[in-house]
Amino acid sequence: MTIILDGKQLKEKILLKLKEKINNFEKKPSLTVILVGDNPASQIYVNNKRKTAEAIGINSNIIKYPKTISEKELLEKIHELNKDDRVNAILVQLPLPEHISKEKVINLINPQKDVDGFTPYNFGKLFSGEKPFVYPCTPKGILILLDEYNIDLDGKHVVIVGRSNIVGKPLSQMILNRNATVTICHSHTKNLAEITKTADILVSAVGENIIEEKMLKSGCIVVDVGIFKDSTGRTRGDVDFENVSKIASYISPVPGGVGPMTIASLMLNTIELFEKQNIKTPL
Ligand code: GUN
Repeated sequence: MTIILDGKQLKEKILLKLKEKINNFEKKPSLTVILVGDNPASQIYVNNKRKTAEAIGINSNIIKYPKTISEKELLEKIHELNKDDRVNAILVQLPLPEHISKEKVINLINPQKDVDGFTPYNFGKLFSGEKPFVYPCTPKGILILLDEYNIDLDGKHVVIVGRSNIVGKPLSQMILNRNATVTICHSHTKNLAEITKTADILVSAVGENIIEEKMLKSGCIVVDVGIFKDSTGRTRGDVDFENVSKIASYISPVPGGVGPMTIASLMLNTIELFEKQNIKTPL
């Protein structure tokens, strides 16, 4: 029998706990999201983040800019947010327009307010096996989801398809920390199916419908990070859910799997940053 990795339900459970926790805080944590341009997917994501934050008592502020904003103006805003004590967490929604350097923007975020864990400080900490202020949201959400179903990673072969800074790369390190054997595949990988066939756990984060039943071994655990609309307007993931779910032991659906877990992790990270910034050192 195949078990569905239900991210939607787990998200609600996490949010309930967080709401209670925030209720007991003297002041509310705050999350500022910067959205540049009119990418439709980004607009939906950002609205979801805001709604969720507000529902559990996090103050959220979305700063929207037209896609014509200059890099300088955006950098100045980040500098201002870094200095503003009322702002606990900063998220710059990606992708950014081409004339703006993503690296320059991310590099300027104060690592203590870097709710994505994307700054070189936090990324570097992660890759050197140390603790960053927070872990990137999507990989963190995936691990929380696997933990909920008591899926142990120790010694397992985890194949990640996709090498992005948002998912593939940070996830590889977080899984290595759990003593898994990790293989990262990407668009130049030869014989992808030969590698995915050896996966105990397959994570696909590509944004294209590429994972078919014949590429996996029976009993494999499948985590689908991809999300896009197909030509009929239906929301889809990377995995052929209908057929793969016949052979997988566990599988995350799209929607309702990793997406909600990313949002839950963003809330967890906002609160973690808030708490770290408000630690009162004893006299
Ligand atoms: N765009 C898609 N996913 C993410 C994410 O996790 N963080 C940010 N900042 N942008 C994204």
